Amino acid sequence: MDSPLMLHAAFIVSTALTAALMVALALWQRRFRAQKARLTSAGLSIAPSTPIAYPIIGSLQYFAGHWDFLRTATRGGATVSFHLANQRCIAVPVEKRHEFFSDSRPSFALAYAVMLGATPSMNKDFLSSMGFDITLGGRSNKFLSALVRNQRINANMPILYQYADECISGLGATTDPFDTIYKTIFRLTVNTIAASSIAASPAICDALAKIFHELDQSGTPATILFPWFPGWERMQRFYLMKQFYDIMSAAIDERKKEGRNDEDPMQYLIDAGLSSLEITQFTLAALFAGIANTGIVAAYILCDLATHPEYLSQVREELSTFVAQFNPDESLPLVARVQSITYEDWIRVGSLPITDKCLKETLRLRIATPLHRLNDSGKDIDIAGTLVPKGTILSFHSSFMHHNEEIYTEPLRWDPERFSEERAEDKAQPMSFAAWGLGKHQCLGQKFAKFEIFLLTALLVSSYDVQAVDKTGAPITEMPPVELNNTVISPPNPEVHLKLTPRTC
Ligand code: HEM
Repeated sequence: MDSPLMLHAAFIVSTALTAALMVALALWQRRFRAQKARLTSAGLSIAPSTPIAYPIIGSLQYFAGHWDFLRTATRGGATVSFHLANQRCIAVPVEKRHEFFSDSRPSFALAYAVMLGATPSMNKDFLSSMGFDITLGGRSNKFLSALVRNQRINANMPILYQYADECISGLGATTDPFDTIYKTIFRLTVNTIAASSIAASPAICDALAKIFHELDQSGTPATILFPWFPGWERMQRFYLMKQFYDIMSAAIDERKKEGRNDEDPMQYLIDAGLSSLEITQFTLAALFAGIANTGIVAAYILCDLATHPEYLSQVREELSTFVAQFNPDESLPLVARVQSITYEDWIRVGSLPITDKCLKETLRLRIATPLHRLNDSGKDIDIAGTLVPKGTILSFHSSFMHHNEEIYTEPLRWDPERFSEERAEDKAQPMSFAAWGLGKHQCLGQKFAKFEIFLLTALLVSSYDVQAVDKTGAPITEMPPVELNNTVISPPNPEVHLKLTPRTC
């Protein structure tokens, strides 16, 4: 008796469910068509989905190779949408770079926080309710700009020279610049945008560098796809952030207890009324912006010079003439001679044209990273005629320009001459060089980064003859091929080290 009744009930329920589903689908389609008609009459379009995707989970191919994925998806100038689990994204083609860089509505900081797996939610309100506001109510760029002002850095030149000299004069016969030079950039940057007391203590500075490095590595596809899931990576990330906070708050408490005023970045932030948590948030974000690129680029330019001896000797010559302008006394050690060079002297446009051309080329060739924006405006917006629904990430890639053979001849070759006045490959088309950003979000630390790189290059090439070698010490004449699919700029694979022979003259 029961079974036919149950079958009957099951039939009614499943028919009702199917009917409800069909009605929902019809309504959704009607809404979608109405939205499409409205957008079309307003001259807008919905970005079609890329076929490079798995059902439900989305375009996992993105994680296998950002460059391969974005290049293939946008082939022929297409603006396409894709999703990574719940996160809706739009890949922007090179043809729309002006719109990508120049529109100020989408957010910069939050986009990177989401795409590097740094936040459990991309919702601004959620973050503030947890006590996190990575932009400190929009004030963080103002604080950073104040900390890298010429006057402030000039006041710190003696200590920056001392730290740079300690590193260069202490290098062994062979060094891994992606370790030693990177660590020095870390120390110089901590002194400039974090706290002088931390930079002064090698032990604390090293501990902070270790936490920072682990944090840098802890964003994985899992943390991006499932930001809400409290898995191992996210737990580890919270633990590392707590350790970072402990170091920062101990330094803050110590100076408050001793009534010290160190006249450094930490003091500036305390005086601006920031809490220990806010100072930690600011410092972490500023160090991420300031160290990852600079530390690796400072090492790469040395390797690029070492594998191009004709440029190495030109750069050495140029730097020697530059230093002699300020202190011609060659009987003094180099570090004493550079003391009379101000920060403005180092960063003045045209002061080191050959070194600058080499740096530009290293930046162009070595940095191949995806760039992101997030529409966190709370409403749908349109960019270049395409609808960008709220919550959508816009993804672009620096290699769209930097490794594009329609812009740069033989783009995978290190060739500083492409930036010479005669060739000026970066000027033939607008917006072709984006190593320091373009449009609304240009790099705030560009001058400071250039100074750090020029200083360490000057001290190293003037003090040593330099040769590129592999991990075993065997000479190499060519750098390994550029890896275009990394998420962030990374050391070469296989490793490249430098063999250093002290120079006698
Ligand atoms: C070689 C070193 C560096 C390179 C290649 C570099 C590159 C860039 C690029 C390409 C952007 C824009 C990214 C985009 O459009 O999505 C940017 C933005 C930024 N950079 Fe740098 N950067 C370097 C060093 C630094 C340093 C040393 C600092 C701080 C001391 C810094 C602070 C920033 C900040 C705060 C922004 C965001 C600006 C905004 O929100 O509008 N950078 N950088």
